[in-house]
Amino acid sequence: MYPTLLFLWAAPLAHFVIADRVCPKPPRVPFAHVDVDKRVYQSGEEIIYTCDPGYSHHSGSRKYTCPWSGKWPINTMQCIPKKCPYPGPLKNGMIHFTDFNYQSLVHFSCEAGYTLNGTDTIQCMANGQWNATLPECQPVTCASPSLPEFGVISYHKLTPGNVSVFQDVIVFECLSSFALIGNETATCMANGNWSDIPECKYVQCPQPTGIENGFVNFAVRRTYHYMESVDYGCHNRYVLDGPRESRCEKTGSWSTKPTCKAPCKIPVNRATVLYNGRKIKVQDDLTEGIQHAETITFFCKNKQEKCGYSVPTQCIDGQLTVPSCFKEIGKFSFWKTDPADLTPCDASVN
Ligand SMILES: *[C@@H]1O[C@H](CO)[C@@H](O)[C@H](O)[C@H]1NC(C)=O
Ligand SMILES: *[C@@H]1O[C@H](CO)[C@@H](O)[C@H](O)[C@H]1NC(C)=O
Ligand SMILES: *[C@@H]1O[C@H](CO)[C@@H](O)[C@H](O)[C@H]1NC(C)=O
Ligand SMILES: *[C@@H]1O[C@H](CO)[C@@H](O)[C@H](O)[C@H]1NC(C)=O
Ligand SMILES: *[C@@H]1O[C@H](CO)[C@@H](O)[C@H](O)[C@H]1NC(C)=O
Repeated sequence: MYPTLLFLWAAPLAHFVIADRVCPKPPRVPFAHVDVDKRVYQSGEEIIYTCDPGYSHHSGSRKYTCPWSGKWPINTMQCIPKKCPYPGPLKNGMIHFTDFNYQSLVHFSCEAGYTLNGTDTIQCMANGQWNATLPECQPVTCASPSLPEFGVISYHKLTPGNVSVFQDVIVFECLSSFALIGNETATCMANGNWSDIPECKYVQCPQPTGIENGFVNFAVRRTYHYMESVDYGCHNRYVLDGPRESRCEKTGSWSTKPTCKAPCKIPVNRATVLYNGRKIKVQDDLTEGIQHAETITFFCKNKQEKCGYSVPTQCIDGQLTVPSCFKEIGKFSFWKTDPADLTPCDASVN
């Protein structure tokens, strides 16, 4: 053997003999890697951990040195996922998520009547930013509504650009003589359709008829149309009850007509009564009676107390009931006092 060769062969061996112990592969740290990845490290060799993309250094030392003992020191390095910023708020929509960490997915949805413009899913990237911008929830649009025949749109709330969007309302009107059947308003619905559009119907009413004890004012023989009205009146001393006017309705018939209520005769020959705040004599001043709904007040006598009290009664369509306590005084019984002239009972109580 040549001495030189022997020397070359012995050199590594000698080294092995005098060497300290070596360190094995360093411990794995979740979401991190070491700068120099080897199977064996000499004592004194330094390694540096770095967090993987999408993770950031949270705590613990990044640097470790292989010691004489050959055992890596306890590793305290911690990496945590990066967080993306809160992506919302999404107007008229909802954001579905569990967290905003690296690689997490966030889903978007819109409320009824709104559609998503943009991506429905975004993902948090390694740089801590989302991979796409926030979508928008845009209102559903409704096409121009079909106008009813003989109708006009009287109010149309339009968003700029002549489009109607979800929840916009339009109001319909019919030309005169036409009645609107259905709902006069229509709303742009979530499905992009309008709610029911009304119809305009041509409406005629028959010649208006008269009323008992009354008359129709100026009713000429002609065709009457929707919303036209006629006026009623009553004959002498009859009183109109109900609305003076009757109107041609959508149904082609007239609205309820008024009635004429009859006056009342006062069914006594002689009496002093209170009428419109005045004491008067029936036989002199109320020979015609009173009109429907009017009130007169009779006087009665309280025999024990020798005082007078008043009882009102009302004329209801020709019917008037005289209070039962009222006693008519004969024409020639001039010695009897009219109860109307007695001291009022409620005054004598005091
Ligand atoms: C969606 O949004 C983009 C950007 O905001 C806009 O240019 C586009 O017109 C929208 N699409 C619809 C259907 O409105
Ligand atoms: C963002 O990520 C989501 C989920 O991976 C994917 O569906 C979407 O297409 C991505 N958007 C863009 C603009 O890359
Ligand atoms: C909107 O509609 C009106 C009448 O229907 C029309 O005169 C006008 O030109 C329209 N405007 C646009 C921007 O389309
Ligand atoms: C008319 O429709 C609107 C919604 O479009 C509704 O709120 C309203 O109650 C309806 N009116 C009638 C009288 O049906
Ligand atoms: C919208 O209206 C049209 C015509 O009346 C009808 O065919 C369609 O089914 C409606 N769409 C929805 C989503 O109800």
